[in-house]
Amino acid sequence: VDIWSGHLPNPIGIAAGFDKNGRVPDVLIRVGFGFAEIGTVTPLPQVGNPKPRVLRLIRDRALINRLGFNNAGHMRVKARLKMRDKDGYMGVNVGANKDAADRTADYVLGIETFYDDANYFMVNISSPNTPGLRDLQAPAALDELLGRVMAKRAELVASGKPQVPIAVKIAPDVAVDDLPAICERLEAHGVDGIAVSNTTLARPSGLDPLFKKEAGGLSGRPLFERSTIMLAKVYQLTGGRIPLIGIGGIESGATALQKIEAGATLIQLYTALVYEGPSLIERIKDHLVDAVDTAGAGSIQELVGRRADDWAAREIRD
Ligand code: FNR
Repeated sequence: VDIWSGHLPNPIGIAAGFDKNGRVPDVLIRVGFGFAEIGTVTPLPQVGNPKPRVLRLIRDRALINRLGFNNAGHMRVKARLKMRDKDGYMGVNVGANKDAADRTADYVLGIETFYDDANYFMVNISSPNTPGLRDLQAPAALDELLGRVMAKRAELVASGKPQVPIAVKIAPDVAVDDLPAICERLEAHGVDGIAVSNTTLARPSGLDPLFKKEAGGLSGRPLFERSTIMLAKVYQLTGGRIPLIGIGGIESGATALQKIEAGATLIQLYTALVYEGPSLIERIKDHLVDAVDTAGAGSIQELVGRRADDWAAREIRD
């Protein structure tokens, strides 16, 4: 897959949250991922919320997490990245400290700190576990955030550095009516990618009742349909002009292909790795290769968005 300045061996990435502190990006790529996203990283180290804070909903093939951006902070992660071999394509997912007086400044600092280390940035304004963070998705807040983030990048480019792509990760709980304004703002600010989606605060009706009252973001199988519908709607609204990263409930070759057909140029997963183990990556690749052959296409990129209209027409239930 050719995206931005990169040529990736496959479109499957490890989603943010698995390697929060940049310990193993190159190992993840050796295991078979086409690219790795580390983080979320915040300027100062954070311990996150009290345990228990990651719950397995085994019957539902899901997780609920309320970690709250536990991470080692910019400086320690930066020091670690200096030692890597830099072969694989790695994105840095940046966030804000819980107690930051100026959250936007935390994102700007993340871009500046990791500018020479990242192949792309993911601006995470969709974690449900830092109170108020998702308010940054409101169009007026997006203007302030992206105005300053993009100005920082422009400054770095003017100083002679390459233009590192900046993508934004949104929640699957954004009201469908708000999506047009959000996509319009993202496009106006020239973001290079949109990731759909983070975890959901929704608790679908079929969910194991034992867990319904647990706080945190739900991921895995029960997130698949909601996040894929949102992805397709964003694809329609952006008309294929911005590459999309489809995330949420990918657990097989079939679900990976559905994400791509709904509009994703790249895909990421996390929860299914917990249940399936790393052999899942190989199975997804085999399925995608078969799909390319069946379609008589030259690459998986030709299948991006071919079912977006069907997906976007569906209604989000629960
Ligand atoms: C996450 N996710 C996440 N996302 C993010 O942008 N920053 C983060 O720090 C984390 N942390 C995190 C921890 C845990 C334990 C989980 C399960 C998830 C969200 C993740 O990247 C992804 O968007 C969702 O989990 C949906 O994908 P899956 O898990 O359904 O494949």
